[in-house]
Amino acid sequence: MSENNLLKVENLRTEFKISRKKSVAAVSDITFEINKGEIVGLVGESGCGKSVTSLSIIRLLNDTSGEITHGSVWFKGSNLLKLSDEEMRQIRGKEIAMIFQEPMTSLNPVLRIDNQLIEAIQLHTEYTKQEAREHALETLRSVGIPDPERVSRCYPHQLSGGMSQRVMIAMAMSCYPDLLIADEPTTALDVTIQAQILDLMQGIRNTRGTSILLITHDLGIVAETCSRVYVMYAGRIIEEAPVDILFSDPSHPYTQGLIASIPKLGLEAESLPFIPGSVPDITMMPGGCRFHPRCRYAMEICSQKEPELISINESQKCRCWLKTSEYSIKTENGESRK
Ligand SMILES: Nc1ncnc2c1ncn2[C@@H]1O[C@H](COP(=O)(O)OP(=O)(O)OP(=O)(O)O)[C@@H](O)[C@H]1O
Ligand code: SF4
Ligand SMILES: [Mg+2]
Repeated sequence: MSENNLLKVENLRTEFKISRKKSVAAVSDITFEINKGEIVGLVGESGCGKSVTSLSIIRLLNDTSGEITHGSVWFKGSNLLKLSDEEMRQIRGKEIAMIFQEPMTSLNPVLRIDNQLIEAIQLHTEYTKQEAREHALETLRSVGIPDPERVSRCYPHQLSGGMSQRVMIAMAMSCYPDLLIADEPTTALDVTIQAQILDLMQGIRNTRGTSILLITHDLGIVAETCSRVYVMYAGRIIEEAPVDILFSDPSHPYTQGLIASIPKLGLEAESLPFIPGSVPDITMMPGGCRFHPRCRYAMEICSQKEPELISINESQKCRCWLKTSEYSIKTENGESRK
């Protein structure tokens, strides 16, 4: 791990039990890293394994039949997968915090916001209740809540979606984590609030140097917020690139399809290109390249053998046979297909 590196996930594999004797992998061979102060995107369609990856990092699969069966998660020099449950509890919330996909299900409906925040702060600090209360108000203010005293006395159902999401971010940031994992933090919000929450996260990175793993299916959000991106498909990373390159020169046919289907001003939704089909169920993964049933470039090899994730230039990686010297083919105008 380089000095600047905060998190490195290596060859992670998480399986779910589907019967007494059989388990299947929801994610496998997942390798990625996040540097200090970096906002990294993890993108892909619904069901491709984004949330399973994030829950595996912070080892929160206990309530499911999920089990990490391979790999390592290096965080500040320790492999999180080797820590005891107690050591992991110390890291969770304090050094790595998570904003979950559904804010309303993550806030306790029967506790007022101040009590939830105070409890979270006291769990990881030596603060007295009064100090924790003051810190809670300060944290609510820092996430742009205009009247923290009033909001802190509310129950979750009394808050709007945007306000709940701010409270979730305040809760996550209250112990100044080094890494914030935000799983679809803005999906349930309207566009204006979405932009405010993204600004807020960028502000947190700028002022605190917090690294952020931003999980989303929305490439528009990635373009605005992230510096590097990992694209997932069917439990695998299929492309890795700096954000500007991903958009100007996407390499994997799946990424190309995702980018082509981003709504554009002046274009009717019906006329947008789309990727036919859907992400396969984990119990029915196709052999070979997992994308081959949906890929318009699929060749014979694609259904027979899975390609490796290979470097195609200094900063970009891709998992596609077209990127190997054997199968790189020429397009009609004679250029190598990207
Ligand atoms: N508890 C579980 N038991 C069995 N399979 C699961 C479980 N949780 C997730 N999966 C499966 O693992 C795969 C990846 O799911 P995951 O929730 O990580 O997708 P995602 O990329 O986060 O999707 P979304 O964008 O809809 O949130 C899916 O096929 C899903 O059905
Ligand atoms: S390996 Fe084949 S099927 Fe898979 S993305 Fe590349 S061309 Fe398409
Ligand atoms: Mg998810």
